[in-house]
Amino acid sequence: MAGIGELATGMAHEINQPLNTISLTIDNIIFSLENKTITETYLKTKVNKVFDNITRIKKIIDHVRTFSRDQDDFIQTSFDINSSINNCISMLSEQMDQKEIILTFKQSDDIPTIIGNIYRFEQVILNLLVNAKDAIDEKKKQSCRNFKRKIDISTNLNKKHIVIEIKDNGIGIKPEVIDKVLLPFYTTKAPGQGTGLGLSISYGIIKELGGEIDIDSKPNIGTAVFIKIPVQEQTK
Ligand SMILES: Nc1ncnc2c1ncn2[C@@H]1O[C@H](COP(=O)(O)OP(=O)(O)OP(=O)(O)O)[C@@H](O)[C@H]1O
Ligand SMILES: [Mg+2]
Repeated sequence: MAGIGELATGMAHEINQPLNTISLTIDNIIFSLENKTITETYLKTKVNKVFDNITRIKKIIDHVRTFSRDQDDFIQTSFDINSSINNCISMLSEQMDQKEIILTFKQSDDIPTIIGNIYRFEQVILNLLVNAKDAIDEKKKQSCRNFKRKIDISTNLNKKHIVIEIKDNGIGIKPEVIDKVLLPFYTTKAPGQGTGLGLSISYGIIKELGGEIDIDSKPNIGTAVFIKIPVQEQTK
């Protein structure tokens, strides 16, 4: 896991790239304006390129905000994991319906509350659910048009840990890159689509709770992400 410094360096680099593209693209537009060679199609393509790159920068900044601690991020409360997950599900339910993904949640009744920052915890669940949705989308694009798209979430109490599993039947992760997915800026998504920060930030947040993230994946079968959080003595 990267420290804040490493992340900041990476972020500067990652933002620089789309900025250069924006600047070059605008240069091209000005050049063709001056030469009076500009066409509507050309302009549209170039403007879209600028937009895509702005979106990319915005996404990077949004993600890193979860790292930069504003006041809300310091607030530690006791919260219920199941209701927090239900909250995330409702935030994404429309997108899931649109993609025809069936999302189930099997919640254990004996999950103790934990003390932490609920906003950051929900950020993790949202990141993982969006990854699962994207993986299913990718599988649909690449090959299988007709498969029953599924994301299954469950919570369990396992001795001294709370285990949250988020399982999808999407494209999966190749064994040769599975060690890379937690690294900041590792992404297989198209430019403007992913920053590659989601998992590394999620890992950092779960670490703060004393927990772990494990990933089990098979190409073309799907991925299961396990979050293990130790039960906190004071809240048992
Ligand atoms: N459930 C999953 N199934 C298949 N591949 C996954 C899954 N989750 C993550 N990955 C792979 O790991 C990479 C890194 O994930 P991460 O969430 O860190 O970044 P991202 O999703 O690419 O970008 P962002 O989170 O900013 O949208 C993804 O690009 C994808 O290749
Ligand atoms: Mg992601």
